[in-house]
Parts: sequence; structure tokens; C-alpha cells
Amino acid sequence: MEKILAEYRRNLGDFEVVDIDENRIASLRRELDVDVPIDLHWTWNYGSEVEELRSLYERGKRGQWNAETDIDWSTPLPRDQWFLPKEGLELLPTILKAGGADDATCCAAAFDEFGYTMSQLLHGEQAALQLCGQLTNACPTMDAKFYAASQVADEARHVEVIAKLIERKVGTVYPIGGVLKVLLDKLLAAPTWKTKTLGMQTLFEGMAVGIFDMLQKGSTNPLVSDIIRRVKQDEARHAAFGILTMRRTVKEATPEEMREMEDFAFDILETLNANQQLDMLRELGPKYGLDPETVAQMVLQSPEWPKFNSDIFMHTVIPNLARLGLITERTEAKYRARGIMYGDRFGTGTDADVQASL
Ligand SMILES: [Fe+2]
Ligand SMILES: [Fe+2]
Repeated sequence: MEKILAEYRRNLGDFEVVDIDENRIASLRRELDVDVPIDLHWTWNYGSEVEELRSLYERGKRGQWNAETDIDWSTPLPRDQWFLPKEGLELLPTILKAGGADDATCCAAAFDEFGYTMSQLLHGEQAALQLCGQLTNACPTMDAKFYAASQVADEARHVEVIAKLIERKVGTVYPIGGVLKVLLDKLLAAPTWKTKTLGMQTLFEGMAVGIFDMLQKGSTNPLVSDIIRRVKQDEARHAAFGILTMRRTVKEATPEEMREMEDFAFDILETLNANQQLDMLRELGPKYGLDPETVAQMVLQSPEWPKFNSDIFMHTVIPNLARLGLITERTEAKYRARGIMYGDRFGTGTDADVQASL
């Protein structure tokens, strides 16, 4: 099978990056209507068939919160004060500091990068909202439909809260990155509810839990911390749905289907990783005199790169895939070669919030 976005791949040193050109990105952003297949499935069984999903739905009901009234929006988020670690978490301040930039410049870049990250999460939340709506149609049991419906409400709230955070405190919604748009469209257009669940609930929700956890651990701003803590608790339920549903799916899958799912997961994560933040660097790099290509090359050449790069993947998504049997020796070597897996064989374990939802 051809690699995703094969025509936008090229080598940067030994590493193959995916880097979409400006014109194509602009046209991807104009593609607002996407043709997606949905298998609508009725059920006449209104009782509970899958107890664990019904209790996740109950947990979801108890966990509802109001993005307008439960958040203290009067808390300031000053753009000239650090609220995330100065180094290691965000790329721009880390690179700028290494190049000798002054603290104010690094702090400004950190704020811009935070805005960019939150914007991409916002677009991802919109995709999650739409995909979950699809699941209410396509899932076979009433338990799964109930659960998916409760997640629709969660994702609407996430879109709301992140949009408000950006509008009220950050100022700029950055447009969606090209690679992210392609991958989200791919998940939304996935042919079956099982592939949709694997793609969105296991891969993207797993990544989201990792990103939110790192931001939460790093943040010293009470508003950002509160929002991320709340969103992450919801995301943990969503990731738990992915695990519970996929556990059943893999039990029934043929070796051929397992192989397909394993490859699907690798292709998506590999493509996401192959961008190496070039989309972000093209948006923000020039403002700080940084050439995207040079920065990406520097990062890739650093001896700590595989450790630093794999952190986000090893947090939740890789351990979960491994537990489902969707990483075997066949793909493990490929994940390692791409700097997605590193160190401990399958990462440290399940995120505490996800574990609590299982
Ligand atoms: Fe979400
Ligand atoms: Fe979610």
C-alpha cells in the first residue's frame, strides 16, 4: 500500500518528513464538505447488552460540566508571563533559548506556540464531535449509541471551552495544519464504525490524553490548568471507550483483519509524526527568524531526539495499541525506526484518568 501523502514526502537527513506545500494546504482548508460513508444501524433491543459501556455512559452523565459557568473566566492569562516550562515541552522557546535569544522573546514564542497547539486541538475537537455523531448512527448496540451520544455533548463542550479560551485569552485561532486535516478527514471517512473507533477513539483520543496530560503537568496558570484538567477527564472516558470497544473487536477479528488494523494504526501515527511540527514552524518560525527546515534538521540530529520525540506516543497510545495486540514485532521495529517508540518496550502504562474510567 502507498504511504499516506506519498507525494509530499522527502528526506531530511535520514528521516523522511511529510511537508505539504502552501497551495495544497490552502486548498485542503477550503475543503469543507467531505463525503463520508455511514452505516446507519437500528436496534430494537433497548435493554443493556454491554454493561461496561452502560457504566461508562453513567460515568459520563455524572462528569458533565458547564464551560461557561464552571470556569472562572476572570482569571488572567498574561502573554508576557511564563506558565509552561521554559524548555523541553514546547519547541520554539527551547530552540530560541539554545540560540541565545532573550527571555522575553522566548516567552512570546512560547505563548504563540501554545496558541497554535490549542488551535490544532480545537480543530481536532471539532473532528471528534463530528465523528462521535457518526458513531451514534453506526454503532450496533444501544449502550454504544448512548455512550457515543454522551460523548457528542462532551466534544461540543470541548469545542466551546477551547474556542472561548482562544477568543478571550489568546486572540488568534491558527488555521488547521495540512497533515492534521488530511488525517482527520481520513478518520471521518473511515468505512466502518470499527475503523472509526480505532482511528478516533484509540489513536487520536490516546494522543489527546498524552498532550493534555503534559500541558496539565506543565501549566502554572490556574485557568489553563482548570480547563485542561476538566477536558482531560472527559478525554480519559473517550479513550476508555476506545479500549473497551476495541478489546471486543480484536477478540472477534481474523488474523487478516488484525493485520489491517495494525497497519492502519501505524500509517496514521507514522504520518502524524512525519510532519515533525513543520506545519507549526511554517506558521510561526519566520516571526522569530527561524527557518523551519533548519529547525527540523537540528531537532532530528539531536541525540535526545528519539526520547523527546517518543514521549507523547509512549504516554498512552502505544501502550494501548500494544495491549490490544495491534503492535507486533512486525510493526514494533518500524515504530522504533521512526522515533515513535523508544526505551521501555511498551511505555509505562495506562494514564491514571483512563484507568479510572475502565
Ligand atoms: Fe474532546
Ligand atoms: Fe474526546
